[in-house]
Amino acid sequence: MEKEALEQISPSTPIFKEILRSRRSSRGFLDTPVSQNIITSVLEDATWAPSNCNTQPWQTHIVSGNKLKELSQALIQDNNAERFSPDFSFDVQEYHGRYQERYHHLARTNYGAYGIKREDRQGRKEVADLNYKFFNAPHIAIPFMPSFGDNVRVGGDIGMYGQTFLLSLTAHGLAGIPQTALGFFAGRIREILDIPNELKMLFGISFGYADPNAPGNSFKLGRDPISSNVIFHQ
Ligand SMILES: Cc1cc2nc3c(=O)[nH]c(=O)nc-3n(C[C@H](O)[C@H](O)[C@H](O)COP(=O)(O)O)c2cc1C
Repeated sequence: MEKEALEQISPSTPIFKEILRSRRSSRGFLDTPVSQNIITSVLEDATWAPSNCNTQPWQTHIVSGNKLKELSQALIQDNNAERFSPDFSFDVQEYHGRYQERYHHLARTNYGAYGIKREDRQGRKEVADLNYKFFNAPHIAIPFMPSFGDNVRVGGDIGMYGQTFLLSLTAHGLAGIPQTALGFFAGRIREILDIPNELKMLFGISFGYADPNAPGNSFKLGRDPISSNVIFHQ
């Protein structure tokens, strides 16, 4: 005889669901800084992310103030000169089918929020370049990682850390956005922050208080139903 399944909702379930669903990538921030205590609280939460064998392979750098301005200028310069220095490739041209459709949907929605048409290359570049102004965020967090083997396992751990960091931001009334766009300039970022070459970078996270009036915050992306992405086996 099979045991009957238990259906028990814990008191924290609705709170968790609310935090999870209210998180979204913010593409516009107020310039109001976040207090050191709150940044510390978020960083402590993020360390509770799981990792392979509890190796905790993150070394996070937080950049604010004048250093952030210096970084922004350097990244804008490097981006305009197409001087890329990534640690890992991002082969977006290989995304096909439904993955490519979703990617195009985000691009259309985001450029559309600024009233920019598909054929307006300059307009699209200006919106994309907001990545290098950190969408006006007063802080960025970069979880650097040691390099082991093909780095897939470590990269997975950094992803866990990143999502825990983002959910903690939401739970603190803050917002953030993970940015692979920053990872395209990993070498330059290491140079400016004086970080050894052994530490690699996947993405950075701009964070702060969301600007509710920013065009980049005027939409929320949905998700496909689990019927399209889950298969049950018994
Ligand atoms: C690892 C990672 C890197 C990302 N890099 C960028 C980026 O460089 N620029 C950007 O505008 N959005 C970036 N995003 C945000 C995604 O576009 C966003 O998560 C996705 O469209 C789903 O939207 P949501 O986060 O609002 O739910 C990134 C997301 C992840 C997880």
